[in-house]
Amino acid sequence: MPRILLFSGKGGVGKTTIAAATGLAAASTGRRVLVLSLDLAHSLSDAFGLERSLFDHGEGRPTPINENLEIQEIDVQQEVEHRWHDSGNVFSLLLAATGIQDAMAEDLVLMPGMEDLITLLYLNQHAGEDNYDLIVIDCPPTGDSLRFISMPKTLEWYVRKRYGVTPGHDSEIRSDAMAGGLVDMYRGLAGVDALLQDPAQTSVRLVSAPERMVVRETQRAFMYFSLYGLVTDRIIVNRILPEAAGLSSWRRTQAAVIREMEELFAPVPISKIPFYGEEMVGVERLNELAKNLYGSSDPAAPGPSRPPFQLEVDRGRPVITVPVPFTSRSDLTLHREDRHVIVRIGSFKRHLPLPRELVHAPVKSAKIQDGVLRILFEIPDKTRESDQVTPK
Ligand SMILES: Nc1ncnc2c1ncn2[C@@H]1O[C@H](COP(=O)(O)OP(=O)(O)OP(=O)(O)O)[C@@H](O)[C@H]1O
Ligand SMILES: [Mg+2]
Repeated sequence: MPRILLFSGKGGVGKTTIAAATGLAAASTGRRVLVLSLDLAHSLSDAFGLERSLFDHGEGRPTPINENLEIQEIDVQQEVEHRWHDSGNVFSLLLAATGIQDAMAEDLVLMPGMEDLITLLYLNQHAGEDNYDLIVIDCPPTGDSLRFISMPKTLEWYVRKRYGVTPGHDSEIRSDAMAGGLVDMYRGLAGVDALLQDPAQTSVRLVSAPERMVVRETQRAFMYFSLYGLVTDRIIVNRILPEAAGLSSWRRTQAAVIREMEELFAPVPISKIPFYGEEMVGVERLNELAKNLYGSSDPAAPGPSRPPFQLEVDRGRPVITVPVPFTSRSDLTLHREDRHVIVRIGSFKRHLPLPRELVHAPVKSAKIQDGVLRILFEIPDKTRESDQVTPK
C-alpha cells in the first residue's frame, strides 16, 4: 500500500509548491511517486514549470516529470461526463444531501463536493493498484480539504438516511438507478476512510506562515483533522523573512510567532522555509526548497505526532480519548446516538463509532484534559443510555 501525504493550509501559503517539492524529494530516493492535485484551480504543472497551454491539464491523466515522478490534475468535468454519466445523477443527489436544491444542482456544471469524491475515488483506486509507493495530495485551501475528508461519511449518512440501509447491505436499493450510482460510488470509496485514518499510512502536513492570523487557521485545521481521525505529523512555516531582508522588527515578530507555534503544536515538529528572493517554480527551485525542508531525512517518513482516537482502560473503566487541541469545554457538545458518540466543535461534528462492547454502555463523564477529550463509560450493563452529556 502506498503512503499518503496530504498538504493543506490557508489559501496561497505555498501548498502546491511544497507538495511538488516533496514529490521530487521522495522520487529522488527511488520511490514511485504521484502528486495528485485536488484543487480545481490546478497549478501543479505550473509549479513544475511545464510548458503547456493555460488550460491544458494533461487530460486529467498522470503526466511524467521524471523516471519516478508523475503528476495528475484531475479533470472533474470530463470524469463526470464520461465515467459517471450512466450512474444517474449521483451528484445532484449528494448535493441535495448537503442542502443544495436539486434543481439548482442540475444547472451547475461543477458542483461542490464532486471534485472531492472523484479525487477520493482516484486515491482509493491508486492505493489498491499499488502503482505508487507514495501519493502526495495537493489540497485546496483548508475548508475544502475538510469537506474532502468528511465526504465518505456524508455519503454513508445520506444512503442510510434516504434508503434506510447501510451501504454494503444494498441489494434492496439496487433497483433504483440513482441509488445504483450511489452504491457504485460508495463501493469505489470503500476503505478510503480507514486509509486516511491510519497514521502509518496517511499524514497531514499543514503549511502555514509566520503571521498570527494564519497560525490561528492552522490551529483550527490541526484540530479538525484530528477530530476526523487524521494525524498531522509536520507543520511547515513558509516565507520566513531572511536576515538579508532587513525589516528587523518584522523579523522579530515572526520569530516570536514561530516560538509560539513550537509550543502550541509540540511534539509535532515545525519546519521553517525562508522567503526566497524569487518565485519557486521549476525542478531546480523546488529541489532547493525540498533540501531546506527535509535535508537528508526521508520526506515520506511519518514524523512525531499526537495519537488519534483511542480506546483505553482507566481503573477498569473504558475511556475513549479524542485529541481536540485548542478546544475549551464551552466550544464542545457531546451527544449519544445509537452506536455513536457525536462530538460537535464549532461548525464541525464527528460521529465516533463505538466499539461493540460499548454500544450499551452509558457515558459516565466527559472532560478535556491537556487537549484531549476523555469520554469515560460505565462498565457495560445494558442499562439505558444517557442522551446528552455536558463536558466538565
Ligand atoms: N518560500 C517561498 N519563497 C518565495 N516564493 C514562494 C515560496 N513559497 C511559495 N512561493 C510562491 O508563492 C506562490 C504561491 O504558492 P502556491 O501556489 O504553492 O500556494 P498555494 O498554497 O498552493 O495556493 P492556493 O491556495 O492558491 O492553491 C507561487 O508563485 C510560489 O512559487
Ligand atoms: Mg495550490
